[in-house]
Amino acid sequence: MHEDVIYYSQCWEDPLVVLRALSINSNDEVLSITSGGDNSLAILSAGASRVTSIDINPAQNYLLELKYKATQTLSYDEYLEFLGIRDSGRRIYFFEKIRPELSKQARDWWLDHKELIPVGIIHCGRFDKYVRFFARYVIPLIHRRQTIQNFLATVSMEDQWRFYNEAWNSRLWKFMFGFATKKQSLTRARHGGMFAQADNTPTSGEYVRRMEKNIASVPIRDNYFMHYSLNGNYLSYLPFSMQEENYKKLREICIKDNSRLVCVSENILTYLRTVSDNTLTKFNLSDIFEALSLEKNNKIWDEIVRTAKSGARVVYWNNLVKRTYPEYLSKYIKSDEILQDELRKQDRVYFYDKVYTHTIIK
Ligand SMILES: C[S@@+](CC[C@H](N)C(=O)[O-])C[C@H]1O[C@@H](n2cnc3c(N)ncnc32)[C@H](O)[C@@H]1O
Repeated sequence: MHEDVIYYSQCWEDPLVVLRALSINSNDEVLSITSGGDNSLAILSAGASRVTSIDINPAQNYLLELKYKATQTLSYDEYLEFLGIRDSGRRIYFFEKIRPELSKQARDWWLDHKELIPVGIIHCGRFDKYVRFFARYVIPLIHRRQTIQNFLATVSMEDQWRFYNEAWNSRLWKFMFGFATKKQSLTRARHGGMFAQADNTPTSGEYVRRMEKNIASVPIRDNYFMHYSLNGNYLSYLPFSMQEENYKKLREICIKDNSRLVCVSENILTYLRTVSDNTLTKFNLSDIFEALSLEKNNKIWDEIVRTAKSGARVVYWNNLVKRTYPEYLSKYIKSDEILQDELRKQDRVYFYDKVYTHTIIK
């Protein structure tokens, strides 16, 4: 993993799904994949006792630290400006205010990568740049600005689906979206390792199917993932950790008890092997399993079961590769099928195959 590159400057897993699956409480000891940092922050603001945010790529943790310390140093309006949601010519000035609060490693990394700051740190990830480029430079070749705004503002599901079919799904849209979601194109966005276990089945048809399923069933009006993907930034509805109420909670935690968020830059398997038995109560694991061989996948599940307290909850996604716990652990791992089904229906991110949630029973 190249530590000079931020791959994800925002989390592309729905925090409302994470929070509902994990049902966070004040006794929770959580292990959460960092990625863009937002979901670790969402779990923290939901009241977890402690969040260990882990990423094999240290740059992802430096990003999380910068977002978190920004809540402590900046007012809410400045925070939105600094992140890149609102226009600003003052982002370097804000960074200089936050800088003394950062760990030495994060400070040094950001000083070496200061050019990422003026653009807004939520836009600096390789994946996010790819999505944003498509929204800002490709979609305007297909649809007028008013058409994009009208689509994002549709109110009923019926209107949304009709609008998609009658005004959005043109031949040019189909061609461009198909091209952008081919595996060869997506290697410019996702980390190459994420495709390591994927077969050669073409991806674009599958992503068209998933996108259409999402548009037919999930309201677009408050789907900020779709707003970012079609508009290149957020409209009035903001990501969870950037909403004022949650910013305030994070700010309070950051000022009062900084030790509740711990960043670990390591492979999750290596880290879990250092954790005592029966310690962790919640796991937010993004779609890490699909990049792994079955053998490594199973080793991580062995460690999850060993380190989990009885009753611990796990949430994770599959995208192109089906990965779950090995059969031999099934006596310890139970799924709430009704909840899982509801989470799949509410998930605002269109491009996953499925979200999974389990309880560890020991
Ligand atoms: C799993 S990736 C996936 C992001 C996005 N959902 C996608 O499909 O492209 C999210 C984060 O997990 C981290 N990651 C992947 N495998 C990991 C592992 N074995 N241990 C720790 N972090 C890992 C990556 O560095 C990345 O920042």
